[in-house]
Amino acid sequence: MLQVNVTRKADEAEGICSFELCAVDGSALPPFEAGAHIDIHIAEGLTRQYSLCNDPNERHRYLISVLKDPSSRGGSKAMHEQVRSGQTLTISTPRNLFPLDRSATRHLLFGGGIGITPMLAMAYELSHQGADFELHYCFRSSERAAFVAMLAQTPFAGRIKFHDDSGAQIQKLDASALLAGPDAGTHLYVCGPAGFMNYILDSAQNAGWPQDRVHKEFFAAVPINQSANAPFEVELASTGQIFQIPAERTVFEVLDEAGIAIESSCEQGVCGTCVTRVLKGIPEHRDKFLTVAEQAANDCFTPCCSRAKSSRLVLDL
Ligand code: FES
Repeated sequence: MLQVNVTRKADEAEGICSFELCAVDGSALPPFEAGAHIDIHIAEGLTRQYSLCNDPNERHRYLISVLKDPSSRGGSKAMHEQVRSGQTLTISTPRNLFPLDRSATRHLLFGGGIGITPMLAMAYELSHQGADFELHYCFRSSERAAFVAMLAQTPFAGRIKFHDDSGAQIQKLDASALLAGPDAGTHLYVCGPAGFMNYILDSAQNAGWPQDRVHKEFFAAVPINQSANAPFEVELASTGQIFQIPAERTVFEVLDEAGIAIESSCEQGVCGTCVTRVLKGIPEHRDKFLTVAEQAANDCFTPCCSRAKSSRLVLDL
């Protein structure tokens, strides 16, 4: 955990604020890689993850950007309405669950709306490396597009294509055309709202992109209907202990209450922090983190949200 000061809070676009965070003692912050996020402890029991969007070469600050989400579970609303410039916040050190693939010879970055944030850090890093990349930034309207003026000043401005949903047809994103004919060295990265993600991911799948060259980061899970949830059991392989998982509770909640620690972050099936090996039984995958192939293998699952198709899961815990 780190203590940081909010040294600057700025309106970047309609509904989007950025927050510059510096160490309270002015020292250098732990380094981060493009794609990394930090956990921000906004208030008691309220922790949220935000991608770092500044140049990873910078050590004096972290920069995050937050969209005020009308369906906010409290995090983005509190960041906008309660967090002020000059305030001290407790944050985690950076963690990277969305890294660039170093083996790629070319990178295609797609950021939709606030999903531009991890792409900014990626673009800085790729630019420093002299790598071949293209950044596609899609937004609903110019009023809701953060960082456009700043991006025009970057050394990689020539590699950015802006796609305004409310603008002329000719500049709108045509994912099928862009993703047609994937070549072996190109990797694709996508982050944004669910509809945007699905558009890019479906286009990639239709164009025959292999899953190991498609990298994605969801912000939030699509709500799942929990009304048909059934109870099941989990067994811990190390001790043989058996826990009943009722329909209204998650494996993570039950085990956490029993003092069985599983590292977690988003608790919505999007970050992958809690992925746990399954030794026996068939999980019912509800996450957005594992690939289709990983889910089909049924040898791991996300206990924060996924359930079971079999009556018992034996976990490698
Ligand atoms: Fe993020 Fe489970 S805690 S996927």
